[in-house]
Amino acid sequence: MLFGMDIDNAPQPQTRIQRLKTLTDGTHQQLDQRIMSADPFGSRARYALFLRVQHQFHADVAPLYGSAELNRLLPGLAERCRLEALQADVEDLSGSAALPLEGQAGALDVPQALGWVYVAEGSNLGAAFLLKEAAKLGLSDAFGARHLAGHPAGRGLHWRNFVAAFNALPMADNEEMQAADGARAAFRRVHGLVDEIFG
Ligand code: HEM
Repeated sequence: MLFGMDIDNAPQPQTRIQRLKTLTDGTHQQLDQRIMSADPFGSRARYALFLRVQHQFHADVAPLYGSAELNRLLPGLAERCRLEALQADVEDLSGSAALPLEGQAGALDVPQALGWVYVAEGSNLGAAFLLKEAAKLGLSDAFGARHLAGHPAGRGLHWRNFVAAFNALPMADNEEMQAADGARAAFRRVHGLVDEIFG
């Protein structure tokens, strides 16, 4: 105790990822609600629409996962890319080859790109719940819902590794704000895709 203050119980400053989460909580919640109200697990046909949303979004972020600069900042980023799993899911459901999709994220500076990557990686955390819903349609991490699977080493551990690397990146305050802009743009992109594809 120092001057009557219990240091152990003093509030800890937020980490960068916690700040990003706080800044995007509202848009994440709106997106969750929008997706669930579109009944994506009501049937395999509805789920196929959800897959189209995910497929396009992961095609958008795939170039970021492949970027040499971002892999230098976040080693192993390329292996986290879920585009191939999505292509396989689309093929499982449709029974035919998935058309390659062009990414539409446009030119992003590094901090903004990191914001997009945060959203794509974080979405795998929430995917645990979505995988359970997909299982009710007979889909699994081996058929139709591969992209929702956790990492073999554990979904939580895989996320925590990402969080640790992300929090350790040297980033000025204004760059962190740009990352938050990138994250919000990524959420808006997915929201737009849901509106476009589910109608
Ligand atoms: C109906 C759809 C969705 C539901 C129900 C959902 C649910 C969740 C849940 C429960 C978590 C927290 C998991 C945990 O702390 O253990 C989470 C995290 C997250 N989700 Fe979603 N999610 C959905 C869709 C999405 C989509 C489409 C995206 C973006 C493309 C997304 C981005 C994120 C991010 C970035 C996080 C990490 C937040 C953080 O801890 O920093 N989610 N989601």
